[in-house]
Parts: sequence; C-alpha cells; structure tokens
Amino acid sequence: MAANNICILKITSTIFAILILSSNFMITPIKSLEFSREVSMEEMGLKTEKLSHLHFYFHDIVRGRYPTAFRVAESAITNSSATRFGFVEIIDDALTLGPNISSKIVGRAQGMYASADLNNLGLLMVLNYVFTEGKFNGSTLSILGRNAVYSDVREMPIVGGSGVFRFARGYARASSHENNMQKNGGAVVEYNVYVFHY
Ligand SMILES: *[C@@H]1O[C@H](CO)[C@@H](O)[C@H](O)[C@H]1NC(C)=O
Ligand SMILES: *[C@@H]1O[C@H](CO)[C@@H](O)[C@H](O)[C@H]1NC(C)=O
Ligand SMILES: *[C@@H]1O[C@H](CO)[C@@H](O)[C@H](O)[C@H]1NC(C)=O
Repeated sequence: MAANNICILKITSTIFAILILSSNFMITPIKSLEFSREVSMEEMGLKTEKLSHLHFYFHDIVRGRYPTAFRVAESAITNSSATRFGFVEIIDDALTLGPNISSKIVGRAQGMYASADLNNLGLLMVLNYVFTEGKFNGSTLSILGRNAVYSDVREMPIVGGSGVFRFARGYARASSHENNMQKNGGAVVEYNVYVFHY
C-alpha cells in the first residue's frame, strides 16, 4: 500500500515536472496561420523591472600596432571639412574596468561612428556593447545617438538589448578621460550607463 502510494506520488510529480518543463518550452501555443497574439508578462517570465548602472572605459585606437578602429569610407569633402564630415569608422574597441587598457576587459564596443555634422563635430554612434563579464556575459546593449566629442559630457540613448538586457532602454553618458590624438589618433572615454531591464 505504502509502496503504491510512493509510486503514485512519483508518477504525479513526474507529470508535474513534465507540465512545468513543457509550460516553459511552450509559452506560445500559437495556432497555425495565426500571425500574432497577446502574451502576458508572467508568461514571458518578466517580473520586476530593474535599473542597473554600468561603469567602464572605452578605448578607441585608430593608429599604431594594434588599432581597433578603421576608416572605411569618407565623403568628397571629408579632407577639407573642419568636422571631417562624412568619414565612417568601424570599431571593435575594448571596454575595461579601469582607465588603463591593461585592466580587466568587461566587453567590447562593436559598430561604427561617422561624422554627421557639417559645422560642429558631432558623431553618429551606431554600435553594440558586447559584454563578456559576469552575469552580463553574452548580453548586448545597442546604442544609437549623437556624440559631440568636444563636450564635457555626451548623452546617447540605449535603444535596446539582448540576453539579460532584453527590453532594455536607458542612456549612456560619456566623458573623455584621455585624449590620445597624438599617440594613436584615439581616446580613452569614461562611460556611465543607466539601463532599465528585467
Ligand atoms: C583624404 O586624405 C587621405 C589621407 O591623406 C587620403 O588617403 C584620401 O585619398 C583623401 N581623400 C580624398 C577624397 O581626397
Ligand atoms: C597600466 O598598466 C600597466 C600594467 O599593469 C603598467 O605597466 C602601466 O604603468 C599602467 N599605466 C598607467 C598609465 O597607469
Ligand atoms: C562567457 O561566455 C563564454 C561563452 O559561453 C565562455 O566561453 C566564457 O568563459 C564566459 N566568460 C566568463 C568570464 O564567464
């Protein structure tokens, strides 16, 4: 009798486990030929929204032995323009914990920036922060904004993200830490990022 009960208990808990597992895998039982449907936030596992503050240094290196930023295009007026209007640079810049390039790498900034202001230097930034550290490893944040590099503080919107940063929104504040224009054509920039995510 007792053995039977244990057996039933085991079967029941197995069924429960299967139900729980399958409910995780089948959050969207969508009918065939159905294009969209409404889902609840619980169903998607979205509980409370968090606000995170990230802090790191961005290393832009344009020249030298190990550049991480490369000019891929320019306009007919780039060379004669005061703002180098029309140049496009593709980057894979290191993001580190401290201002020293040898400090711990927490991710990379991958994407591009382009001179998009004829009169006052303003870069169009279109890039992803690809994090490689801790709980953010493998997650990304997408930045799309204007970077007036000669201003003390520049603010750029975070327009989305992936991984732990799904549904992300927020802003990044940049301030120049070191101008390396003479050394390698680049700069070290301090970033403070504030982002809402789940
Ligand atoms: C601009 O200057 C660069 C570097 O001196 C040169 O390689 C490039 O051909 C010039 N571009 C134009 C459009 O003249
Ligand atoms: C950066 O770190 C390296 C290696 O730890 C060190 O040799 C160098 O002096 C540091 N540079 C600065 C500016 O602190
Ligand atoms: C980050 O994730 C990659 C791929 O899963 C893994 O190889 C790496 O060891 C992880 N790094 C850290 C610091 O957890």
